[in-house]
Amino acid sequence: MMSKLKIQHELDLDMWWNAARLKVDRMLAREPELAPHAAKDGEYDGLTLDNWISGFWPGTLWIFYDMTRDAKYKEAAWEWDIRMERLTLEESRFHHDVGFQYLPTAVLKYKLTGDADGRRRGLAAANFLAGRFNLAGQYIRAWNKDLPGWAIIDCLMNLSLLYWASEEGEDPRFRHVANAHANMALEHMIRADGSTCHVAVFDTESGELLEYKGWQGYAPESCWSRGNAWALYGMANAYRFTNNKNFLYAAERVAHHFIASLQGHGVPPWDFRVPNPDTEPRDTSAAAIAASGLLELAALTTPEVGAVYRTAAERIVLALSTEYAAFQVHEHEGILFGGTGHKPADTNINVSLIYGDYYYIEALAKLRGWVHRVF
Ligand code: GLY
Repeated sequence: MMSKLKIQHELDLDMWWNAARLKVDRMLAREPELAPHAAKDGEYDGLTLDNWISGFWPGTLWIFYDMTRDAKYKEAAWEWDIRMERLTLEESRFHHDVGFQYLPTAVLKYKLTGDADGRRRGLAAANFLAGRFNLAGQYIRAWNKDLPGWAIIDCLMNLSLLYWASEEGEDPRFRHVANAHANMALEHMIRADGSTCHVAVFDTESGELLEYKGWQGYAPESCWSRGNAWALYGMANAYRFTNNKNFLYAAERVAHHFIASLQGHGVPPWDFRVPNPDTEPRDTSAAAIAASGLLELAALTTPEVGAVYRTAAERIVLALSTEYAAFQVHEHEGILFGGTGHKPADTNINVSLIYGDYYYIEALAKLRGWVHRVF
């Protein structure tokens, strides 16, 4: 019985991968110029390449190139970091999320092809990210506009760019900045029960913690599920790069919170602590990020403990693939239905989100033996 279930599962992984590849190939054929972002019905809308989501479509292409060695994916992905860099020469919207943008493009391109310009762009982006560090509060500031005191949980995912730059550039400064921000998040943003806040606001001069904000979550003391997934995955990465057990314990604490809060579902509500979660929109992007993060964590722990995380990741992937995938809806570009972009702002509710699709593909690739890492 056991082996039958296992074989069935393996067959499904290939089927889901091939179905996702068909979707990617169809989208590739229309050669999107702008960065695909959200799809309600049909095509993804597009944002300029200085938006935080601009790395996910080319990152998808690079993963398919790495897994298949089909040159069409490499050719289509090649220009994206070049085009992104051009935007840095004018007034643009780049901010703390350059990790999300340059890791799946310039840095992955360099890792897969040895392209020296990819390496240079990745290091330049790391410099930019490190330059946003506030020494007084020990945090990397979020976004632009008039918010110099804001630190957000998502930024933990950008730290891999700094850790990579430290190793690649043989310069520990970047690692010091990443460690400081991770420690700040441990102290102020990841709670004892593994839940997380979205925004912490600091006094930019004294570094004193002033307040929390719910922002993309329901309330300051609630737990935005995508933010919880970012923390899980980001802390696992920080441990992989540093061997600091505090980061591992934090990743595990968040993982346990995420898994327990699913309450048997494969996909969480957009916030774990929203009143009446059963009637609220779910967020498949949070589920996909958590699945890939859990697989990362599984590989970093003992086989016994790792099996718990891997099983949880497989359950999420199963739910995404069988309950939320748009494989049969050919006119729809997105892979996963049921993403929630920003519920409090009432934008992009129950849509496909390019980052949901990206992390779903990342998780499938990991389950099928993919060895390279983007984050
Ligand atoms: N990093 C932005 C978001 O998760 O919506």
